[in-house]
Amino acid sequence: MNHLTLALAKGRLAIQTMELFESIGITCQEMKSKSRKLIFESEERKYRFFLSKASDVPTYVEYGAADIGVAGADTLSEENRSLYEALDLGFGKCKMVVAGLPTSLERLNRGNDIRVTTKYPNIASRYFYQKRRQTVEIIKLNGSVELGAIVGLSDVIVDLVETGDTLKANGLVVLDEICDISARLVVNRVSMKMKYEQVIDLIKRLEERIYDKSI
Ligand code: PRP
Repeated sequence: MNHLTLALAKGRLAIQTMELFESIGITCQEMKSKSRKLIFESEERKYRFFLSKASDVPTYVEYGAADIGVAGADTLSEENRSLYEALDLGFGKCKMVVAGLPTSLERLNRGNDIRVTTKYPNIASRYFYQKRRQTVEIIKLNGSVELGAIVGLSDVIVDLVETGDTLKANGLVVLDEICDISARLVVNRVSMKMKYEQVIDLIKRLEERIYDKSI
């Protein structure tokens, strides 16, 4: 039987994904070793996992290099690839928000020519142009996006908030919520047809496990 190849966003999401897989009997000890290897096979040899940068997961899945991917809804929405979104895995929960200094709320609501710093320019532009009908200048940063609003590079930021600690520690507040985020399992559109039985079997087992945990 063919392998199912899975692309996982390396870091905490991959660890939580493997914990979920272990709970349904799919184990991969090799992945727990501290080696620099990037690709691993499960013990029963039915699944192959590889670890990639989160934003590359949708690319691997769209082109079929991976049958399945696990990434945050933030990454999937930002990359906007043609994928079959099969399952909300229920972890990695946080929110995509607009945040800034408390005094920037008025500026945000007043109108145009707002400067926005973000790691998510596509999400930010859809939110401002389509939902709020505002003309904004979006400046892409690659991390510590909060700094943008603190040092005056931007009026507001669009970023993820989990505990809220980073905003609080820097005197920033949530000005508007854009959407809820969690880890999602996505499937390549061709694999969904060509490996239907294997893909559906995995999705069903995961779904049962997630449902069991939530009741
Ligand atoms: C994320 C996010 C916020 C922070 C939110 O950054 O971009 O900065 O976590 O978490 P909190 O609400 O629990 O404080 P990350 O740690 O991934 O680092 P980065 O800013 O360098 O991207």
